[in-house]
Amino acid sequence: MRARNIGAAAATAVALLAARDLVQKRHALLRNFPVVGHARYLLETIGPELRQYIVTSNEEERPFSRDQRTWIYASAKEENNYFGFGTEVDVEHVQGHAYLKQRTFAGALPDLHDPQAPLPSAKVLGGPRGRAKAFRPASVVNISAMSFGSLSGAAIAALNEGAALAGAMHNTGEGGLSPYHRKGGDLVLQLGTAYFGCRDEDGGFNLDKLKDVIAGAPVKAIEIKLSQGAKPGLGGMLPGAKVTPEIAGIRGIPVGKDCASPSRHTAFSDVDSMLDFVELLATETGLPVGVKSAVGEMSFWQELATLMARGDRGVDFVTVDGGEGGTGAAPRIFADSVSLPFRMGFSRVYGTFAELGLTDELTFIGSGKLGLPENAAVAFALGVDMINVAREAMLSIGCIQAQKCHTDKCPTGIATQNPWLARGIDPASKATRAANYLRTLRKELMKVSAAVGVAHPALITADDIEIMNGDYEARTLAGVYGYKDGWGELGPHLAQEITALLTAERDHRP
Ligand SMILES: Cc1cc2nc3c(=O)[nH]c(=O)nc-3n(C[C@H](O)[C@H](O)[C@H](O)COP(=O)(O)O)c2cc1C
Ligand code: SF4
Repeated sequence: MRARNIGAAAATAVALLAARDLVQKRHALLRNFPVVGHARYLLETIGPELRQYIVTSNEEERPFSRDQRTWIYASAKEENNYFGFGTEVDVEHVQGHAYLKQRTFAGALPDLHDPQAPLPSAKVLGGPRGRAKAFRPASVVNISAMSFGSLSGAAIAALNEGAALAGAMHNTGEGGLSPYHRKGGDLVLQLGTAYFGCRDEDGGFNLDKLKDVIAGAPVKAIEIKLSQGAKPGLGGMLPGAKVTPEIAGIRGIPVGKDCASPSRHTAFSDVDSMLDFVELLATETGLPVGVKSAVGEMSFWQELATLMARGDRGVDFVTVDGGEGGTGAAPRIFADSVSLPFRMGFSRVYGTFAELGLTDELTFIGSGKLGLPENAAVAFALGVDMINVAREAMLSIGCIQAQKCHTDKCPTGIATQNPWLARGIDPASKATRAANYLRTLRKELMKVSAAVGVAHPALITADDIEIMNGDYEARTLAGVYGYKDGWGELGPHLAQEITALLTAERDHRP
């Protein structure tokens, strides 16, 4: 009798816990996996102690180490994201470890204690080419391309609303502009090889459809996707079973039929015709237009810079994606071994434009694990003007790095079209987390810039950072990547302008 009572009480407690897990909105994992989901939180809590004896260290695990994920989770929840007791890195021996060199004295700096402090781009996007809708992006950190289709509608909505809260831009990804992208965030519209949302029945690009899409949404720029770091030069296939009426409507394709994305564009076939296409889009829409690409052979970039040096045609921005970048799904050989890692690829592209004195004429955007302060600082020192974050933004809204994005079984409802799993995400609360993360990353970038003695991360130079070679020696970034004098730096006019803008904003705030 007593045992039966205990059993009944336990069953009631479990039922109550399950009910609470199902209705709460803070944790997608518990909404999707009531009761059992608590095991993960328990393991997370006692994980550091367990791992000291078994399993891995805080610095191991890829793509993102436990320390890196912990920093993102804490920043997103506005919890204490400091680390105690000192570094765990074996600082003199870790090959590739970057050091920023702080300065003892500095000139005017922005207010570092204001969590809402703006961190705009040092360059006006589309300004040098005189685009009608040129503008200065309000945030140097923005959300990278991820389509509705690879991510759930709820995840896209959370990221878009998060971008709006943080004053950042949100790239649609190549899957077209969905209703989930219309939660207030400014957009960069991406055009992939299948021109989803702006295509004819035969899959070709359609300018009128592009104009229709732009007319109804806060699109601030257009990004032509040539390739991405995790799977460059690879086409895609959306199986008919996944082409639901909703996806078909957004992408402009027939319901239930297989849809192939070619590996290369059909609207242009070389750099020359690509520049004509860029100018056509910019003239017809007034928007800044750029290209996103991973870096492989360099003749593409050399020809692009050479043609741009003539001054009559040009891209407004290039987004360089590192080979370490993420994807919803890719063959391992592409994810691991095709295209250069970010620092190598970006420095080669930057150098190609720098040789021709063109670096102030366009905005450089970088992506590939740059959503962490130290990686971002290195990118800015190499000459990046803005960074895009994809997986780090996913982590901020609850991704646990289960790495099942390609199976449609994402346990946190982020990378899935399964309605039951996607229901786990409460877009409103996750939007706040995404915004907190974006703001915190900007704040850390401001703090680290101030330590180096400059007002903006784009003013950190390639001599301000050294890279350990793993054997008690370090070389400057400039030395490692073969930068000449002044490479990686803004022209004097741009440098003065952004310093004045940030320090004057401080003076004028009440
Ligand atoms: C789930 C997922 C979907 C993605 N979809 C696209 C896409 O539609 N277009 C694109 O250019 N890149 C896409 N990417 C690549 C990202 O935009 C980004 O370039 C890459 O992940 C590197 O950034 P990260 O290291 O911050 O994740 C995707 C990445 C992920 C993880
Ligand atoms: S499957 Fe895993 S890695 Fe992919 S989004 Fe979901 S939780 Fe993150």
